[in-house]
Amino acid sequence: MLDFLSESRKLFEYTRALRRDFHRHPELGFHEVRTSGIIAQELNQLGLEVKTGIGRTGVVALLEGDQPGPAVLIRFDMDALPIQEESEAEYASDVPGVMHACGHDGHIAVGLTVARLLHQQRSDLKGSVKLVFQPAEEGLGGAEAMIKDGVLTNPQPDASLAVHLWNEKPVGWISVTPGPIMAAAEIFQISLRGKGGHGAQPHLTQDPVTTAAQIISALQTVVSRNTSPLEASVVSVTSVKAGEAFNVIPNTADLKGTIRTFKPEVRQQVIESFTRIVKGVSNAMGCQAEIEIQSITPAVINDPQMAATVLKVARNLLPDHEVDTSYMTMGSEDMAFMMKDIPGCYFFVGSANPEKGMDASHHHPRFDIDEASLPQAAALMAASVAKLLI
Ligand code: NI
Repeated sequence: MLDFLSESRKLFEYTRALRRDFHRHPELGFHEVRTSGIIAQELNQLGLEVKTGIGRTGVVALLEGDQPGPAVLIRFDMDALPIQEESEAEYASDVPGVMHACGHDGHIAVGLTVARLLHQQRSDLKGSVKLVFQPAEEGLGGAEAMIKDGVLTNPQPDASLAVHLWNEKPVGWISVTPGPIMAAAEIFQISLRGKGGHGAQPHLTQDPVTTAAQIISALQTVVSRNTSPLEASVVSVTSVKAGEAFNVIPNTADLKGTIRTFKPEVRQQVIESFTRIVKGVSNAMGCQAEIEIQSITPAVINDPQMAATVLKVARNLLPDHEVDTSYMTMGSEDMAFMMKDIPGCYFFVGSANPEKGMDASHHHPRFDIDEASLPQAAALMAASVAKLLI
Protein backbone atom coordinates (compact mmCIF):
# COMPACT_ATOMS: atom_id res chain seq x y z
CA MET A 1 0.00 0.00 0.00
CA LEU A 2 1.16 3.55 -0.74
CA ASP A 3 2.50 5.65 2.11
CA PHE A 4 -0.51 7.93 1.90
CA LEU A 5 0.81 10.51 4.36
CA SER A 6 4.03 11.19 2.49
CA GLU A 7 2.22 11.04 -0.88
CA SER A 8 -0.38 13.55 0.30
CA ARG A 9 2.38 15.82 1.62
CA LYS A 10 3.96 15.72 -1.86
CA LEU A 11 0.64 17.01 -3.20
CA PHE A 12 0.42 19.80 -0.60
CA GLU A 13 1.01 22.66 -3.06
CA TYR A 14 -1.75 21.29 -5.30
CA THR A 15 -4.16 20.89 -2.36
CA ARG A 16 -3.43 24.33 -0.92
CA ALA A 17 -3.76 26.12 -4.28
CA LEU A 18 -7.18 24.51 -4.80
CA ARG A 19 -8.33 25.32 -1.28
CA ARG A 20 -7.29 28.97 -1.60
CA ASP A 21 -8.93 29.29 -5.01
CA PHE A 22 -12.23 27.90 -3.68
CA HIS A 23 -11.90 30.14 -0.62
CA ARG A 24 -11.49 33.22 -2.79
CA HIS A 25 -14.51 32.26 -4.92
CA PRO A 26 -17.17 30.97 -2.51
CA GLU A 27 -20.61 29.96 -3.79
CA LEU A 28 -23.81 29.44 -1.81
CA GLY A 29 -25.75 26.17 -1.71
CA PHE A 30 -27.07 25.01 -5.13
CA HIS A 31 -25.10 27.83 -6.80
CA GLU A 32 -21.74 26.01 -6.82
CA VAL A 33 -21.37 26.39 -10.61
CA ARG A 34 -17.76 27.57 -10.86
CA THR A 35 -16.77 25.21 -8.04
CA SER A 36 -18.32 22.11 -9.61
CA GLY A 37 -16.85 23.08 -13.00
CA ILE A 38 -13.33 23.00 -11.55
CA ILE A 39 -14.03 19.73 -9.73
CA ALA A 40 -15.30 18.08 -12.93
CA GLN A 41 -12.27 19.35 -14.86
CA GLU A 42 -9.82 17.98 -12.27
CA LEU A 43 -11.55 14.59 -12.17
CA ASN A 44 -11.75 14.43 -15.97
CA GLN A 45 -8.01 14.96 -16.11
CA LEU A 46 -7.60 11.72 -14.16
CA GLY A 47 -9.65 9.93 -16.83
CA LEU A 48 -12.54 9.21 -14.47
CA GLU A 49 -16.15 8.83 -15.51
CA VAL A 50 -17.62 12.14 -14.28
CA LYS A 51 -21.28 13.08 -13.94
CA THR A 52 -22.35 16.65 -13.25
CA GLY A 53 -25.74 18.14 -12.34
CA ILE A 54 -26.48 15.41 -9.75
CA GLY A 55 -28.62 17.15 -7.12
CA ARG A 56 -28.50 20.32 -9.26
CA THR A 57 -24.83 21.33 -8.83
CA GLY A 58 -23.34 18.09 -7.45
CA VAL A 59 -20.54 16.11 -9.10
CA VAL A 60 -20.06 12.33 -8.97
CA ALA A 61 -17.06 10.42 -10.32
CA LEU A 62 -16.34 6.72 -10.35
CA LEU A 63 -12.78 5.52 -9.84
CA GLU A 64 -12.62 1.84 -10.66
CA GLY A 65 -9.92 -0.43 -9.35
CA ASP A 66 -8.37 -3.01 -11.65
CA GLN A 67 -10.30 -5.79 -9.94
CA PRO A 68 -14.01 -6.11 -9.07
CA GLY A 69 -15.26 -5.67 -5.53
CA PRO A 70 -17.39 -3.47 -3.29
CA ALA A 71 -18.08 0.22 -3.86
CA VAL A 72 -17.08 2.85 -1.31
CA LEU A 73 -18.77 6.25 -1.38
CA ILE A 74 -16.71 9.20 -0.16
CA ARG A 75 -18.48 12.51 0.18
CA PHE A 76 -17.21 16.10 0.33
CA ASP A 77 -19.48 19.13 0.73
CA MET A 78 -18.77 22.29 -1.24
CA ASP A 79 -21.11 25.15 -0.30
CA ALA A 80 -20.23 28.46 1.38
CA LEU A 81 -22.28 30.61 3.77
CA PRO A 82 -23.98 34.04 3.60
CA ILE A 83 -21.38 35.70 5.85
CA GLN A 84 -19.18 38.74 5.17
CA GLU A 85 -15.60 37.58 5.68
CA GLU A 86 -13.42 39.59 8.07
CA SER A 87 -9.96 38.46 7.10
CA GLU A 88 -6.67 39.98 5.99
CA ALA A 89 -5.61 36.75 4.26
CA GLU A 90 -4.57 37.17 0.62
CA TYR A 91 -7.01 34.38 -0.25
CA ALA A 92 -9.98 36.10 1.48
CA SER A 93 -13.36 35.96 -0.27
CA ASP A 94 -13.80 38.08 -3.40
CA VAL A 95 -17.58 37.82 -3.10
CA PRO A 96 -19.26 40.37 -0.80
CA GLY A 97 -21.42 38.70 1.85
CA VAL A 98 -20.37 35.15 0.99
CA MET A 99 -17.55 33.14 2.53
CA HIS A 100 -16.30 29.63 3.18
CA ALA A 101 -16.76 29.82 6.96
CA CYS A 102 -17.14 26.10 7.61
CA GLY A 103 -14.07 24.65 5.85
CA HIS A 104 -15.93 23.15 2.89
CA ASP A 105 -13.31 24.79 0.62
CA GLY A 106 -10.79 22.55 2.39
CA HIS A 107 -13.08 19.53 2.00
CA ILE A 108 -13.20 19.97 -1.80
CA ALA A 109 -9.41 20.31 -1.98
CA VAL A 110 -9.05 17.21 0.20
CA GLY A 111 -11.49 15.31 -2.04
CA LEU A 112 -9.58 16.14 -5.22
CA THR A 113 -6.32 15.17 -3.51
CA VAL A 114 -7.85 11.85 -2.43
CA ALA A 115 -8.87 11.26 -6.06
CA ARG A 116 -5.24 11.68 -7.12
CA LEU A 117 -3.92 9.48 -4.31
CA LEU A 118 -6.35 6.64 -5.05
CA HIS A 119 -5.75 7.00 -8.77
CA GLN A 120 -2.09 6.21 -8.09
CA GLN A 121 -3.17 3.10 -6.20
CA ARG A 122 -5.93 1.93 -8.56
CA SER A 123 -4.15 -1.19 -9.89
CA ASP A 124 -4.34 -2.64 -6.36
CA LEU A 125 -7.95 -1.69 -5.64
CA LYS A 126 -10.55 -4.48 -5.60
CA GLY A 127 -13.70 -2.49 -6.16
CA SER A 128 -14.63 1.08 -6.90
CA VAL A 129 -14.64 4.48 -5.26
CA LYS A 130 -17.58 6.80 -5.77
CA LEU A 131 -16.36 10.37 -5.27
CA VAL A 132 -19.30 12.57 -4.31
CA PHE A 133 -19.03 16.36 -4.24
CA GLN A 134 -22.25 17.54 -2.61
CA PRO A 135 -23.91 20.95 -2.87
CA ALA A 136 -25.94 22.76 -0.23
CA GLU A 137 -24.99 21.00 2.99
CA GLU A 138 -25.88 24.06 5.11
CA GLY A 139 -29.50 23.14 5.78
CA LEU A 140 -30.66 23.40 2.15
CA GLY A 141 -31.12 19.71 1.36
CA GLY A 142 -28.11 18.94 -0.86
CA ALA A 143 -27.74 15.31 0.26
CA GLU A 144 -31.42 14.56 -0.34
CA ALA A 145 -31.24 16.21 -3.77
CA MET A 146 -28.31 13.95 -4.73
CA ILE A 147 -30.07 10.86 -3.38
CA LYS A 148 -33.14 11.75 -5.45
CA ASP A 149 -30.88 11.95 -8.50
CA GLY A 150 -29.58 8.44 -7.85
CA VAL A 151 -26.24 8.96 -6.09
CA LEU A 152 -26.86 5.82 -4.04
CA THR A 153 -27.46 3.59 -7.06
CA ASN A 154 -25.44 2.24 -9.98
CA PRO A 155 -23.28 1.15 -8.28
CA GLN A 156 -24.97 1.00 -4.91
CA PRO A 157 -22.28 1.80 -2.33
CA ASP A 158 -21.43 -0.82 0.31
CA ALA A 159 -19.70 1.63 2.62
CA SER A 160 -19.47 5.39 3.04
CA LEU A 161 -16.96 7.84 4.48
CA ALA A 162 -16.93 11.58 5.13
CA VAL A 163 -14.68 14.02 6.94
CA HIS A 164 -15.01 17.46 8.50
CA LEU A 165 -12.04 19.74 9.22
CA TRP A 166 -12.75 20.81 12.80
CA ASN A 167 -11.77 24.15 14.28
CA GLU A 168 -13.01 23.33 17.77
CA LYS A 169 -9.81 21.28 18.03
CA PRO A 170 -6.16 21.89 17.09
CA VAL A 171 -4.21 20.35 14.23
CA GLY A 172 -2.90 16.99 15.44
CA TRP A 173 -6.27 15.91 16.85
CA ILE A 174 -8.64 13.51 15.12
CA SER A 175 -11.82 11.84 16.19
CA VAL A 176 -13.24 8.51 15.13
CA THR A 177 -16.22 7.73 17.36
CA PRO A 178 -18.44 4.66 16.96
CA GLY A 179 -22.22 5.16 17.22
CA PRO A 180 -24.04 8.52 17.20
CA ILE A 181 -21.75 11.53 16.61
CA MET A 182 -23.93 14.35 15.28
CA ALA A 183 -27.43 15.22 16.38
CA ALA A 184 -30.80 14.96 14.69
CA ALA A 185 -32.01 18.50 14.05
CA GLU A 186 -35.46 20.04 13.78
CA ILE A 187 -36.64 23.58 13.19
CA PHE A 188 -39.65 24.71 15.20
CA GLN A 189 -41.95 27.67 14.73
CA ILE A 190 -44.55 28.82 17.24
CA SER A 191 -47.22 31.28 16.13
CA LEU A 192 -49.02 32.84 19.11
CA ARG A 193 -52.34 34.55 18.62
CA GLY A 194 -53.80 36.72 21.39
CA LYS A 195 -55.75 39.95 21.38
CA GLY A 196 -53.90 43.20 20.97
CA GLY A 197 -54.74 46.60 22.34
CA HIS A 198 -53.40 49.72 24.05
CA GLY A 199 -50.18 49.28 25.98
CA ALA A 200 -51.71 51.28 28.82
CA GLN A 201 -54.74 48.98 29.04
CA PRO A 202 -53.26 45.48 29.24
CA HIS A 203 -56.28 44.13 31.13
CA LEU A 204 -58.32 44.46 27.92
CA THR A 205 -55.88 42.33 25.92
CA GLN A 206 -54.60 38.76 25.74
CA ASP A 207 -50.93 39.61 25.52
CA PRO A 208 -48.87 37.35 23.22
CA VAL A 209 -45.62 39.06 24.33
CA THR A 210 -45.84 38.03 27.99
CA THR A 211 -47.10 34.63 26.82
CA ALA A 212 -43.99 34.25 24.62
CA ALA A 213 -41.79 35.16 27.59
CA GLN A 214 -43.49 32.52 29.78
CA ILE A 215 -43.15 29.92 27.02
CA ILE A 216 -39.43 30.63 26.56
CA SER A 217 -38.85 30.20 30.31
CA ALA A 218 -41.01 27.09 30.56
CA LEU A 219 -39.26 25.47 27.57
CA GLN A 220 -36.02 25.45 29.58
CA THR A 221 -37.54 22.59 31.60
CA VAL A 222 -37.90 20.29 28.57
CA VAL A 223 -34.22 19.35 28.83
CA SER A 224 -33.70 19.96 32.56
CA ARG A 225 -36.89 18.28 33.87
CA ASN A 226 -38.41 16.11 31.14
CA THR A 227 -35.50 14.10 29.73
CA SER A 228 -32.95 11.94 31.49
CA PRO A 229 -29.83 13.85 32.61
CA LEU A 230 -27.84 11.01 30.99
CA GLU A 231 -29.26 11.77 27.53
CA ALA A 232 -28.15 14.71 25.41
CA SER A 233 -30.74 17.11 24.02
CA VAL A 234 -31.06 20.82 23.21
CA VAL A 235 -34.04 23.16 22.87
CA SER A 236 -32.97 26.65 21.76
CA VAL A 237 -35.34 29.54 21.05
CA THR A 238 -33.34 31.66 18.60
CA SER A 239 -35.84 34.14 17.18
CA VAL A 240 -38.56 36.22 18.86
CA LYS A 241 -40.72 38.57 16.83
CA ALA A 242 -43.64 40.63 18.10
CA GLY A 243 -45.01 44.13 17.86
CA GLU A 244 -43.66 47.44 16.52
CA ALA A 245 -44.90 50.35 18.62
CA PHE A 246 -44.05 51.11 22.26
CA ASN A 247 -47.68 51.65 23.21
CA VAL A 248 -49.36 48.81 21.31
CA ILE A 249 -49.78 45.26 22.55
CA PRO A 250 -49.71 43.23 19.32
CA ASN A 251 -52.15 40.53 18.25
CA THR A 252 -49.43 37.96 17.53
CA ALA A 253 -45.94 36.83 18.45
CA ASP A 254 -43.68 34.38 16.59
CA LEU A 255 -40.93 32.22 18.01
CA LYS A 256 -38.41 30.11 16.12
CA GLY A 257 -35.66 27.75 17.16
CA THR A 258 -34.11 24.31 16.99
CA ILE A 259 -34.31 20.94 18.75
CA ARG A 260 -31.30 18.59 18.81
CA THR A 261 -31.21 14.98 19.99
CA PHE A 262 -29.29 11.75 19.28
CA LYS A 263 -31.78 8.98 20.01
CA PRO A 264 -35.21 8.62 18.32
CA GLU A 265 -36.91 7.89 21.67
CA VAL A 266 -35.39 11.02 23.25
CA ARG A 267 -36.41 13.05 20.21
CA GLN A 268 -39.99 11.81 20.57
CA GLN A 269 -40.01 12.64 24.27
CA VAL A 270 -38.61 16.15 23.70
CA ILE A 271 -41.17 16.90 20.99
CA GLU A 272 -44.02 15.68 23.22
CA SER A 273 -42.90 17.77 26.23
CA PHE A 274 -42.27 20.75 23.98
CA THR A 275 -45.76 20.57 22.48
CA ARG A 276 -47.46 20.05 25.85
CA ILE A 277 -45.66 23.02 27.43
CA VAL A 278 -46.29 25.42 24.54
CA LYS A 279 -49.98 24.50 24.32
CA GLY A 280 -50.45 24.47 28.11
CA VAL A 281 -48.76 27.80 28.80
CA SER A 282 -50.57 29.48 25.88
CA ASN A 283 -53.94 28.23 27.14
CA ALA A 284 -53.19 29.37 30.66
CA MET A 285 -52.28 32.83 29.38
CA GLY A 286 -55.37 33.09 27.14
CA CYS A 287 -53.55 32.81 23.79
CA GLN A 288 -53.65 30.22 21.03
CA ALA A 289 -50.48 28.53 19.79
CA GLU A 290 -49.83 26.91 16.46
CA ILE A 291 -46.73 24.73 16.41
CA GLU A 292 -44.82 23.58 13.38
CA ILE A 293 -41.88 21.19 13.80
CA GLN A 294 -39.90 20.29 10.73
CA SER A 295 -37.15 17.68 10.67
CA ILE A 296 -33.93 18.80 8.92
CA THR A 297 -31.69 15.75 9.36
CA PRO A 298 -31.59 12.53 11.35
CA ALA A 299 -28.57 11.86 13.60
CA VAL A 300 -25.24 10.87 12.04
CA ILE A 301 -24.50 7.39 13.36
CA ASN A 302 -21.15 5.73 12.72
CA ASP A 303 -21.25 2.00 12.03
CA PRO A 304 -19.10 0.40 14.78
CA GLN A 305 -17.21 -1.84 12.33
CA MET A 306 -16.50 0.99 9.90
CA ALA A 307 -15.35 3.20 12.78
CA ALA A 308 -13.05 0.42 14.00
CA THR A 309 -11.50 0.15 10.52
CA VAL A 310 -10.87 3.91 10.22
CA LEU A 311 -9.54 4.02 13.79
CA LYS A 312 -7.01 1.30 13.01
CA VAL A 313 -5.90 3.14 9.88
CA ALA A 314 -5.62 6.42 11.82
CA ARG A 315 -3.46 4.92 14.56
CA ASN A 316 -1.04 3.47 11.98
CA LEU A 317 -0.99 6.46 9.66
CA LEU A 318 -0.88 9.28 12.23
CA PRO A 319 0.79 7.78 15.31
CA ASP A 320 1.67 11.17 16.80
CA HIS A 321 -1.96 12.41 16.62
CA GLU A 322 -4.30 12.58 19.57
CA VAL A 323 -7.10 10.18 18.66
CA ASP A 324 -10.43 10.85 20.35
CA THR A 325 -12.88 7.94 20.26
CA SER A 326 -15.75 9.57 22.15
CA TYR A 327 -16.14 13.00 20.55
CA MET A 328 -19.73 14.00 19.72
CA THR A 329 -21.34 17.30 18.74
CA MET A 330 -24.90 18.63 18.80
CA GLY A 331 -24.26 20.06 15.31
CA SER A 332 -26.04 18.31 12.44
CA GLU A 333 -25.01 17.05 8.99
CA ASP A 334 -27.06 15.89 6.04
CA MET A 335 -24.51 13.11 5.40
CA ALA A 336 -26.88 11.39 7.86
CA PHE A 337 -29.24 10.72 4.92
CA MET A 338 -26.54 8.82 2.99
CA MET A 339 -25.35 6.95 6.11
CA LYS A 340 -28.90 5.93 7.03
CA ASP A 341 -28.82 3.17 4.44
CA ILE A 342 -25.09 2.62 3.96
CA PRO A 343 -22.79 1.71 6.85
CA GLY A 344 -20.39 4.59 7.20
CA CYS A 345 -17.86 6.47 9.25
CA TYR A 346 -17.75 10.25 9.58
CA PHE A 347 -14.55 11.48 11.20
CA PHE A 348 -13.17 14.86 12.28
CA VAL A 349 -9.68 16.24 11.69
CA GLY A 350 -8.57 19.10 13.96
CA SER A 351 -7.79 22.25 11.94
CA ALA A 352 -7.33 25.07 14.49
CA ASN A 353 -4.06 26.77 15.29
CA PRO A 354 -4.50 29.33 18.11
CA GLU A 355 -0.89 30.58 17.73
CA LYS A 356 -1.61 31.61 14.15
CA GLY A 357 -4.99 33.10 15.14
CA MET A 358 -6.78 30.35 13.25
CA ASP A 359 -9.19 29.23 15.91
CA ALA A 360 -12.43 31.10 15.20
CA SER A 361 -15.37 28.75 15.40
CA HIS A 362 -17.27 27.45 12.39
CA HIS A 363 -19.61 30.01 10.77
CA HIS A 364 -17.64 32.94 12.28
CA PRO A 365 -16.60 35.86 9.96
CA ARG A 366 -12.94 35.27 10.93
CA PHE A 367 -13.04 31.50 10.44
CA ASP A 368 -9.83 30.10 8.92
CA ILE A 369 -8.06 26.74 9.09
CA ASP A 370 -4.45 25.72 9.46
CA GLU A 371 -3.75 24.16 6.06
CA ALA A 372 -1.44 21.58 7.68
CA SER A 373 -4.69 19.71 8.39
CA LEU A 374 -5.37 19.20 4.66
CA PRO A 375 -2.78 16.48 3.88
CA GLN A 376 -3.69 14.72 7.13
CA ALA A 377 -7.37 14.60 6.19
CA ALA A 378 -6.58 13.50 2.63
CA ALA A 379 -4.18 10.78 3.77
CA LEU A 380 -6.63 9.38 6.35
CA MET A 381 -9.47 9.34 3.84
CA ALA A 382 -7.40 7.71 1.07
CA ALA A 383 -5.83 5.14 3.40
CA SER A 384 -9.25 4.23 4.86
CA VAL A 385 -10.64 3.61 1.36
CA ALA A 386 -7.57 1.58 0.45
CA LYS A 387 -7.99 -0.48 3.63
CA LEU A 388 -11.56 -1.30 2.59
CA LEU A 389 -10.62 -2.19 -1.00
CA ILE A 390 -7.23 -3.92 -0.82
NI1 NI B 1 -19.63 22.20 7.64
